[in-house]
Amino acid sequence: MVGEGQPVTLIAAVAENGVIGRGLAIPWRVSSDLRRFKARTTGNTIIIGRRTHESIGKTLPGRRTIVVTRRPIDGVEAAKSLAEAIAMSTTPVFLAGGARIYAEGMALADGIEITRVHATPDGDVHFPPIDPERFRLVDIVPGEQGERDEFAFSFETYARTPTGN
Ligand SMILES: NC(=O)c1ccc[n+]([C@@H]2O[C@H](COP(=O)([O-])OP(=O)(O)OC[C@H]3O[C@@H](n4cnc5c(N)ncnc54)[C@H](OP(=O)(O)O)[C@@H]3O)[C@@H](O)[C@H]2O)c1
Repeated sequence: MVGEGQPVTLIAAVAENGVIGRGLAIPWRVSSDLRRFKARTTGNTIIIGRRTHESIGKTLPGRRTIVVTRRPIDGVEAAKSLAEAIAMSTTPVFLAGGARIYAEGMALADGIEITRVHATPDGDVHFPPIDPERFRLVDIVPGEQGERDEFAFSFETYARTPTGN
């Protein structure tokens, strides 16, 4: 969190139309993004909402996972609020969705890493707007679309502005 504790990064794959999900699922298959997610989060802490945990269906190996939920879940480390989950973290934190975690996490994040998926899929779960006064786009790198990437994609990095506290 800004100025204290572990750095907090919001990480998401977002379509051109802002869609991040349809029901519990992600409406595209971009393996390169999953690989990048693994590389960025392994050894660190990911914080996810209960619905995202259900959609993944298991705890991902090699990183600590904290699920935000008002109810305990068997076999999973849980926190009752996002602030509590961040306070529990002892390694760099990645807020990994879904929409509710992103919306609340926007005010707590030091940076945002978006895989922009160059598609406009139907979906009912959207990424919240990025406040340009709070974050600025500092890097954009085209991805290399491979055989297992359904769409082209780019990696966008946003940093908190000096006044964006
Ligand atoms: N494209 C991407 O990068 C990406 C990444 C992750 C997820 N997704 C998609 O996002 C969708 C799921 O997002 P979602 O917004 O529906 O659900 P979500 O944020 O994953 O989970 C919502 C649940 O988390 C708990 N929660 C969240 N914030 C809380 C808070 N501040 N305090 C207490 N509890 C809190 C509540 O659980 P309880 O009801 O148990 O209390 C709430 O019902 C799926 O479609 C998924 O595929 C996309």
